[in-house]
Order: sequence, then structure tokens, then C-alpha cells
Amino acid sequence: MKLQACRICQSYRGTPVIQDIDLEVDEGEVVSLLGPSGVGKTTLFNILSGIDTPDSGQVLVDGEDITGRAGRISYMLQKDLLFEYKTVVDNIALPLVIKGENKVTAREKALEHFEQFGLLGTDKLFPSQLSGGMRQRAALLRTYLFSHDVTLLDEPFSSLDAITKRQLHKWYLEIIHALQMATLLITHDIDEALRLSDRIYLMTGKPGRITDQVTIERNGKSGEAFETSPEFLAYKSRIIKALQC
Ligand SMILES: Nc1ncnc2c1ncn2[C@@H]1O[C@H](COP(=O)(O)OP(=O)(O)O)[C@@H](O)[C@H]1O
Ligand SMILES: [Mg+2]
Repeated sequence: MKLQACRICQSYRGTPVIQDIDLEVDEGEVVSLLGPSGVGKTTLFNILSGIDTPDSGQVLVDGEDITGRAGRISYMLQKDLLFEYKTVVDNIALPLVIKGENKVTAREKALEHFEQFGLLGTDKLFPSQLSGGMRQRAALLRTYLFSHDVTLLDEPFSSLDAITKRQLHKWYLEIIHALQMATLLITHDIDEALRLSDRIYLMTGKPGRITDQVTIERNGKSGEAFETSPEFLAYKSRIIKALQC
């Protein structure tokens, strides 16, 4: 499945926030959209997920116009939005229940993934009893169960401490490759984008535009070996220059 955005523009009260955004995410690809706070990343996310309709432009899935229509692609908002009064398993099973599964089957299907998502034994707990990293994994599993095609993530790791974030990156890389999850990851963290992506779109300016694109070649290196390589530093330096930060 392929997600495409064509010439997306959006303004708030007459002020353009994002302009002429073109992007695409191919089957199995992990793509980041990297830019500073306020550049319009969440505005674009809301349009791609169908929560908002843009002033102009189109969102396509496999060529079909889904502009302004939620429900086709799964997304995880900047805040994890787990319901505090529901148990972990009921939070995760929610997309299946919304799609019409009965509660018991939905719980069973959710539980099948608990081990892979590092959540074994947490099903009857409430979200407030989970660590930050576990909350994010629970929210990611819920997002995955909504649709397996393309997943949009708005700064999913930004509220975590640096060490938990690194652990979650490592785990997330393994899981997206195991599940072949095409992902569009929105982030303001350069290292995060470099660690996780096959390709990075850089977004800058007011209104926000996509001003550059970087394809990441790891040459067989992963994890620490890639992060401490001259290639990593060269990419980082190129991105810092392009973002002028
Ligand atoms: N609902 C809204 N109404 C008015 N202005 C908004 C709204 N949402 C976002 N903005 C403005 O749009 C700009 C981009 O915001 P946002 O998309 O949240 O950026 P980012 O996610 O990159 O930090 C900001 O200047 C913000 O104040
Ligand atoms: Mg945002």
C-alpha cells in the first residue's frame, strides 16, 4: 500500500501554516518528517489521517482519494490517549471493537500480540500503572491493530527519557521490520529520524514546506555501529545545515 500527499495547503484564520506539501510512503518503508516545533507537522498529520480536511490538495492511498476521510490509515497522536478507566487490554482491543468484533474475540486478538510488544502480564492493569515506555508500546499496539497498512506516528517517543527512548527505538526497529509496517514518523529529533528511517523529509519555513529529502544508506551497519559511523555524522551535519539549527 502506498500513501501519497499531493500539494497540500492549510491555513488557520487566513495565515498559511503549510504549503504545497508533496510526500509519499511506499510499502514497507519507514519515512520521517523532520522539522522544528511549530513548522506544521501536526497540522499535516491531521490532514493525512483524515481528522482535518485541507484547504487544497489531496491524500491518496493506492491512488484512491481519501482526503478528509478518517478510518483508512491508522495513526497515533502526539499524546498516547489511553483511557485511564479502561484496562490495558481493553484499550488495545478498542479498534477491533469499533470495527465490530465482540469484546471477547477482540481481547483474544489483542492478547496474541502482547508478548511481541513487551506487554505480557499487563493486560488487567490500568494505564496509570504502566511505565512511560510501556504506555507507548500499548499505544503502538493499538495503532497497529487498527490497520496494518500505513501507520502515522506523531512524535511517539518525545515524552520519554533518553535511555527509555533508545531502548524503544531499538525495539521499534525490530518490530517494524518483523511486521513490515510502513510508517510515517513525525519528529523534531534528528538522531531519532536517522536511527529509524529509510528516508527523511525535512520541513522548514513559515508556512512550512518540504525543503529537502535525505535517503539513508546504512551499508549493512545498524544500531551503535551506524550511529558512531562517519556516514551518520555526515547525514547529521547535512540535516543541521538544511534545518539551520
Ligand atoms: N487549530 C489551530 N488553530 C490555529 N492555529 C493553529 C491550529 N493548529 C496549529 N496552529 C498553528 O499552526 C502552526 C503549526 O502548528 P503544528 O502543526 O502544531 O506544528 P508542529 O507539530 O510542527 O509543532 C503553529 O503556528 C500553530 O500555532
Ligand atoms: Mg506537533
